Amino acid sequence: MYFIGIDSSTTATKALIMDESGTVLGVASSEYSFATPQPLWSEQSPLLWWHGTIESIRQALAKTNIDPAAVKGIGLAGQMHGLVLLDEKGEVLRPALLWNDQRTAAQCDTIRQKIGRERLIQITGNDALTGFTAPKILWVQENEPEIWQRTRHILLPKDYVRYKMTGEFAVDCADGAGTILFDLKQRNWSPEILRALNIPAETLPKVYEGTDITGTLSPAAAKELGLPAGIPVFGGGGDQAAAAVGTGAVRAGIVSLSLGTSGVIFATTDGCAIEPEGRLHAFCHSVPGKWHFMGVMLSAAGSLRWHRDTFAPGMSYDTLLAPAAEIQAGSDGLLFLPYLSGERTPHPDPLARGAFVGLTVRHTFPHLTRAVLEGVSFGLRDSFELMKNSGLKDISQVRVTGGGARSPLWRQILADMFNAEIVTVNSEEGAAYGAALLAATGAEIFPSVESACDSTIQITGSTKPGKDQAAYENLYPLYRDLYPALKPSFAKIGSS
Ligand code: XUL
Repeated sequence: MYFIGIDSSTTATKALIMDESGTVLGVASSEYSFATPQPLWSEQSPLLWWHGTIESIRQALAKTNIDPAAVKGIGLAGQMHGLVLLDEKGEVLRPALLWNDQRTAAQCDTIRQKIGRERLIQITGNDALTGFTAPKILWVQENEPEIWQRTRHILLPKDYVRYKMTGEFAVDCADGAGTILFDLKQRNWSPEILRALNIPAETLPKVYEGTDITGTLSPAAAKELGLPAGIPVFGGGGDQAAAAVGTGAVRAGIVSLSLGTSGVIFATTDGCAIEPEGRLHAFCHSVPGKWHFMGVMLSAAGSLRWHRDTFAPGMSYDTLLAPAAEIQAGSDGLLFLPYLSGERTPHPDPLARGAFVGLTVRHTFPHLTRAVLEGVSFGLRDSFELMKNSGLKDISQVRVTGGGARSPLWRQILADMFNAEIVTVNSEEGAAYGAALLAATGAEIFPSVESACDSTIQITGSTKPGKDQAAYENLYPLYRDLYPALKPSFAKIGSS
């Protein structure tokens, strides 16, 4: 028996085939780009995801040479928050507005005014941020009324792929919560929010858990994909929740940290918990009956890449990082703020900027490198602290993935900074693997998502807090003071 996991990200759609023991047999991906037709805009044609799905599934089948008749389930994951609008015939009305589109600041204000910020956080678990889906809907209502008039179905990116596969309009609750149209506790659409924002309930897809069957592969889709019709398509999840499943972050106390261009810190909660100021994202998990907190840093490993590309283009990361390991913790008084693309958590501020603070003539290039690693880690600790202050007292382990996880120096800095064990795991395929595990659990290969993760995901390395823990503890308040002190300057720079 085989299971397929799909991840439609902003840059590619990936298909992964695994067997019923969770062993990955093959992965293929099909790349595409997104458009920025105006400053702050970010858009993509939904058909790219569907064509990417066809291409990547066909390639993965060819690579693994498995019998397509033995595929017993498909799980879907994808970029969160994107807005897909369809007319009554199910045709796409305009390019999707993506998670990284920043045009909706005014609509976020409108949402806060209409619902009240406190009430919004109470119901949805979140403040209105430009990345989320609800303000994108308001933008279309206001700016493209003729498109809004013709809108009959609202979908998230991976659910457009689901619609093409099954003909069903469905969403899982992890991705659904990222619209901020959800009553977080109820794991379903909030009638109060929909009313306040003039969004007819019938335009929204039906909500399922990540392990539920949402439909089966139609004969037409099956033909395009090279699979038999009738294969069940399971709920799956938004990419972050599915990736957490893919690394085994499915229990309270185990945090996952993805150190890619952006940095995402993700913590499972057993009940519906929110950060009262809405500084952390609070969404449903893909694990039925669980929720999660999430902090998103926009330039994490992206900060290190910028540093390398700007000051030492072409240098390997090993060569770049080796001398930084010789510099003392704290980089001799040099601090770095990683807000190179603005920030989301804990300072939702598009005008925030990066900064080196404390430079002296004694500082060398390796000091700057170490300060970048430390600044990103301090920024991630901000989210970690908010999680601890929101009820997650016993964080015993942080599972780190992504490009940044390859550096032993960075793992040690993180262990010291968080005062927690940092571990690496054997699974590298993130959201596509999580989606396949959700499908296999739905097909009753595993009794629960937790047991699916226990059977398939192993720890491959561990870094414990070391001698520099106290130094970072002392420096952290200094780091925390910098953003509030510089914020007025950032605002002036940004608006000049
Ligand atoms: C999560 C988010 C991004 C997208 C990227 O809140 O906005 O991680 O899901 O794919």
